[in-house]
Amino acid sequence: MKIGIIGAGNIGGNLTRRLTALGHEVSVANSRGPQTLTALAEETGAKPVTASEAAKDAQVVVVTVPLKAVPDLPAGFLDGAAEGFAVIDTGNYYPQQRDGRIVAIEDGLPESRWTEQQIGHPVIKAFNGTYAQDILDRGRPKGAPDRQALPVAGDDPAAKQAVRDLIDELGFDTVDSGGLDESWRQQPGTPVYGSRGDVDAIVKALSEASPERTAEFRA
Ligand SMILES: NC(=O)c1ccc[n+]([C@@H]2O[C@H](COP(=O)([O-])OP(=O)(O)OC[C@H]3O[C@@H](n4cnc5c(N)ncnc54)[C@H](OP(=O)(O)O)[C@@H]3O)[C@@H](O)[C@H]2O)c1
Repeated sequence: MKIGIIGAGNIGGNLTRRLTALGHEVSVANSRGPQTLTALAEETGAKPVTASEAAKDAQVVVVTVPLKAVPDLPAGFLDGAAEGFAVIDTGNYYPQQRDGRIVAIEDGLPESRWTEQQIGHPVIKAFNGTYAQDILDRGRPKGAPDRQALPVAGDDPAAKQAVRDLIDELGFDTVDSGGLDESWRQQPGTPVYGSRGDVDAIVKALSEASPERTAEFRA
């Protein structure tokens, strides 16, 4: 698969490592330009590109930048992606430590709905509660007793299935956590956030979530 990854930090870097190892053709971008990604490119075989080029011909585009940087992504950065492409949003709102106050989210808009509005394309919310290091270390073959599950939210069934299939390839089960209107169930501060549980544990944690943001994740 052709995959474009925008953001080459903790999550973007490790997704680049694992997805190239699985044989996918990965283009990866950061904010400073491809000349700053030569080490990651040499390590993984991924193609370092600008954020405007990352989605070209991609079947899956991963947006994995700090939430506050989403509005700075270049206009039209998704133009030229493959027909029916899926966008994965790994983002979280950390108003106190990083992102500052975003009124719409404070007023109750799910974080990924906000991101979707900023980029002008539907997103699938995945990996947002997964420790970056776990992407490298904790993938397991299908059926392994200690295989973790990840919640996946989104409105487009085909895009969601494509993302779930990719996560399965990476070595994790998935749980369909509903549409984006329900995606508050996996935001920071919820029981599922940071969970390393299996399918049953993730289903239970999602069911126990409250739509109220915790104080730690408000500004
Ligand atoms: N760390 C985790 O374990 C973890 C787990 C789950 C979810 N998340 C969420 O996933 C998102 C990414 O987290 P992270 O920890 O991977 O972040 P990070 O390590 O800080 O990396 C952010 C990356 O985004 C790039 N970037 C920033 N602004 C950009 C722009 N305008 N255009 C293109 N690239 C840009 C940065 O490039 P430069 O370095 O060139 O500025 C950097 O490569 C966040 O929303 C975070 O909350 C993180």
